[in-house]
Parts: sequence; C-alpha cells; structure tokens
Amino acid sequence: MGDLAATARALVAPGKGILAADESTGTIGKRFDSIGAASTEESRRDYRELLFTTPTAAEYISGVILFDETIRQHGADGTPLVEVLERQGIVPGIKVDAGAKPLAFAPGETVTEGLDGLRERLEAYHGLGARFAKWRATYVIAPGVPSQYCIDANAHALARYAALCQEAGLVPIVEPEVLMEGDHPIEQCEGVTASVLEAVFSQLFEQRVELEGMLLKPNMVVPGADCPVPATPDEVAAATLRCFRWTVPCAVPGIVFLSGGQSDKAATANLGAMNKRKAAGEVAPWELSFSYGRALQSAALKAWAGEAANADAARAAFAHRARLNSEARRGRYAADMEHAEP
Ligand code: 13P
Repeated sequence: MGDLAATARALVAPGKGILAADESTGTIGKRFDSIGAASTEESRRDYRELLFTTPTAAEYISGVILFDETIRQHGADGTPLVEVLERQGIVPGIKVDAGAKPLAFAPGETVTEGLDGLRERLEAYHGLGARFAKWRATYVIAPGVPSQYCIDANAHALARYAALCQEAGLVPIVEPEVLMEGDHPIEQCEGVTASVLEAVFSQLFEQRVELEGMLLKPNMVVPGADCPVPATPDEVAAATLRCFRWTVPCAVPGIVFLSGGQSDKAATANLGAMNKRKAAGEVAPWELSFSYGRALQSAALKAWAGEAANADAARAAFAHRARLNSEARRGRYAADMEHAEP
C-alpha cells in the first residue's frame, strides 16, 4: 500500500492538481462541435498532445486522466503520449467506468456500470503505464430523487471499483457527482452531497479500501444551475467544507474537485475561497485541489479552434488557467489575476 499512498500524495502535491482529459469519444465530439472542429482519431490526438506538451504544465499539473483511446496513442513524433507525460513527471491515469446507465425501477436515475472484467482491464492499464484511475457516479436532484436506492447502488459499485484498483496497484479516484442541473438551493445540494458521501465512505470501509491510497473527486456544494439565489465563493467554500467535515475521514489525503459545468472562473474562485479558509485555520484536514475537465480546457479549446497554427495560443490559454488554479490551490488566487498576461 505504500506506493498507493505515495502516488495519492503526489497527485495532490502543493500547488498541483489533475487535468481530466478523459472525455469519451461522444463527449469530445460535442466539445469539438462547439468550436467547429472535426472529431477524428488524429484531431483528438493533436488536441490532447498540445495540452500535454504545454511547457509549464508540469509546474501545475500532477496527473492527467486519459481515455482508453488516448492511453494507446502516440504523439506526432511517434512518442507514446503516456511517455510524453511521464518524462515531465506527470502521472498518467485512466477512466475505467463504462458510463452511467438507467437504474432499474428508478425513473430518471442512473447507476454507473463497468465492473465486469475490470480486474483484467486494470491489469492491462497498469501495463500501459496508468498509476491511477477514475470512476464517476452521478446523482440528479429533483423531487423525490436521488433515492436511497440510487445512492446505495452507486456507493457499492464505487467501492468495488476502488478495491479492485488498489489490488491492481492503481490509486482509485472515487467520483460521486451530485449534478448541478435544477433550481434547488445550496442547502439542498449540501444535504444530498452529505447523504451520498456518507454512503460512499460506508461502502469503502465495508469493502476494505485503504483511505490513504485513494482520492475523492466530488462536486462542490453549490446552488442548482437555475437557482435564483446565487452563492458567493465564500458561501460555497463554507458549505462545502462543513459538509465534508461531517462525511470525509481525515485519512483521505486529498479532495480533487470536478468543475461540473461551473464557469472556469467560478471553479477557480470557489477552490481559492476554500483554500483561503484552510490557510486561515479552518479545519480541513485534506489537500483541497482540482481535477477539472471543462474548467481547465474551455479557454484552450476556443483558442485552438481545430487549427494547428493556433497551438501556441491554446497552450498559453491552458497554462494561464492551470496557473490560476494552482494559485487557488495555494489560497493565493485573486480575481484580478484573471487579467494578467497569460
Ligand atoms: P468537469 O471538470 O468538466 O466536470 O470534468 C471532470 C470530470 O472528470 C468529470 O468526470
């Protein structure tokens, strides 16, 4: 287990966080549609390679979550993309769930699948260089949901995945995501997130997962996307930390938030507010970092626009966003940094 704990700690090293670049082929296709770029095996490779070769990336990025296609790809010069990351000291990771599927007898709710054959797939991914993995469960807030049934089914699967990862020598990133869709107030997100985390940690305990060798990737406690009452970064930080003190054991080395559809600036500001509270002495016995997909990539994706000629502009946009999240992770982010030269 010593290696697992060391890898988990390296992924939340000071000033560093994780880039989630594990969009499935369908999801990256939608992102490319939004910038008018064609999604082909080569264009997906080119885009991800440009992110991974951003000169200062390793100062801010500890690990990258890859999709199955990407972990097998080579850069334009023939170097495996895994090696491109490893040479910079960036840890390669892999998404291993097979997606959220309708949960039987639970209209509108999902359970994440992918346990069949997982032991063998984890062994193969370890052979390809992956040292950590990700599995995402999602929960909708709406009248009557999430049900305890949905919460329990997903907690069980998350813990089975996590145990298999540790057996295979990979650090599991356990990702229960309470979705932002809806008009619910922040208090409701806090209650649902607490119920979800309570079930997840109960199952992790039952299934003998060593907490020192895992990371939690949760949503922040925020109001629903259509809620008329907004929350300030400090309100988000206060609610999120309070919720986690109740539910997340201090043996967990790090919490790496997802951005979940927040704007990139909001995701940075909220993370910054949490780390400011921690720096001011509020009890938060875990590293508080990021594992953002959209919030790290949206500016870079726009700058790239599918054109090789824009690669340097895209790298600059990515480096800027990664640096600001690194500052947020250190509790030093201020909104006026947004306007500093990338
Ligand atoms: P977002 O930060 O875009 O939510 O993506 C993180 C992720 O990995 C979702 O599973």
